[in-house]
Amino acid sequence: MTATAIAPRNPAPVAGPLPGAPRMLTGDRPTGRLHLGHYAGSLANRIRLHRRYESFFIIADLHMLTTKNSPAEIAEAGRHATDMVLDSLAAGLDPAHSVFYLQSAVPEVAELSLLLSSLVTVPRLQRIPSLKEMGQHAGQREMPLALLGYPVLQAADILAVHAAVVPVGKDNAAHVEVARETARRFNRRYGDVFTVPDLVPADVPVLPGTDGRAKMSKSLDNAIYLSDPPEVVAAKVRRMYTDPARTTAGVPGTVEGNPVFVYHDAFNDRPAEVAELKERYLAGKVGDAEVKEKLTAALNRFLDPIRERRAAFEADQGLVEELIVTGTARTRREVKRTLADVRATMGLTAALAGFRRAARSRSRAR
Ligand code: TRP
Repeated sequence: MTATAIAPRNPAPVAGPLPGAPRMLTGDRPTGRLHLGHYAGSLANRIRLHRRYESFFIIADLHMLTTKNSPAEIAEAGRHATDMVLDSLAAGLDPAHSVFYLQSAVPEVAELSLLLSSLVTVPRLQRIPSLKEMGQHAGQREMPLALLGYPVLQAADILAVHAAVVPVGKDNAAHVEVARETARRFNRRYGDVFTVPDLVPADVPVLPGTDGRAKMSKSLDNAIYLSDPPEVVAAKVRRMYTDPARTTAGVPGTVEGNPVFVYHDAFNDRPAEVAELKERYLAGKVGDAEVKEKLTAALNRFLDPIRERRAAFEADQGLVEELIVTGTARTRREVKRTLADVRATMGLTAALAGFRRAARSRSRAR
């Protein structure tokens, strides 16, 4: 992960993708605003890739239900969805190249998930470690059926829009593998309906939290959000965990794995400044305060264009909502077509068609 690889650029919007361009699908559960960890781990990759494809971004509220399904959590999903879309646009997704859709408003996906579930075994799903972790993390002592089926629902999302590429982080790689297997199994057994999707792994290390814990996460309260104002960023950086062995500026410090330097490497657009700070830090010739001040400045340089775009998109009231409404309608048309193909190819439509013919000729005979 280098600053140049993930620095936001602000290219002029360009016309939509070529018709027939391969499709990309990725997305998130609507659980909150996006932070620097999301940016480094997935958003930067999405922004880099999305114009090459016809790009779909799922707001996976049905997946959210597998661990968060209280009325209060469900009531907040809408606001979280608009925040996430706004954050994504502010970070650089081009609305002309992005179809945002609300998963629960495309109920055909749930039907496809049910049809695919005959092609996946329980032990296959039980071997996926991320699911157990998600359940434990959510405080569930026993595995809910929906959580075990999480990858099957995700396979339905992916296959329903014929996605050719699915850029996701490490946690989701096993789910995409289930989608690939299921597509192949379906095509072999019933007929060629599905595109076998390619996984595009995000080859970036996980960004640590401001508290030095391994992962930046909302639930750990150690995140810097894309929407944090400059003074909030400054305050969070001031409180940031650094090398605990370093009691004064004169003690040589550790750079490796030190979150302050991990962030400098990831987000500071002045590599010479970072190299010089590291040298002085290793030699015990710079205080944490200066390293942090320069980090705050770098983060705010990184976030400023994001803030500007966010303000512009926010001023256009109803835009985000409109994008979700039109994107959802568009996706639903697509998924209905896939589902009709699936049902016909499996032979599920033949029986009813036969019943109808017989019923019609009976009513004509009377
Ligand atoms: N599982 C993803 C997450 O961790 C969300 C998701 C649901 C998804 N369906 C998808 C990602 C399809 C990529 C493709 O939040």
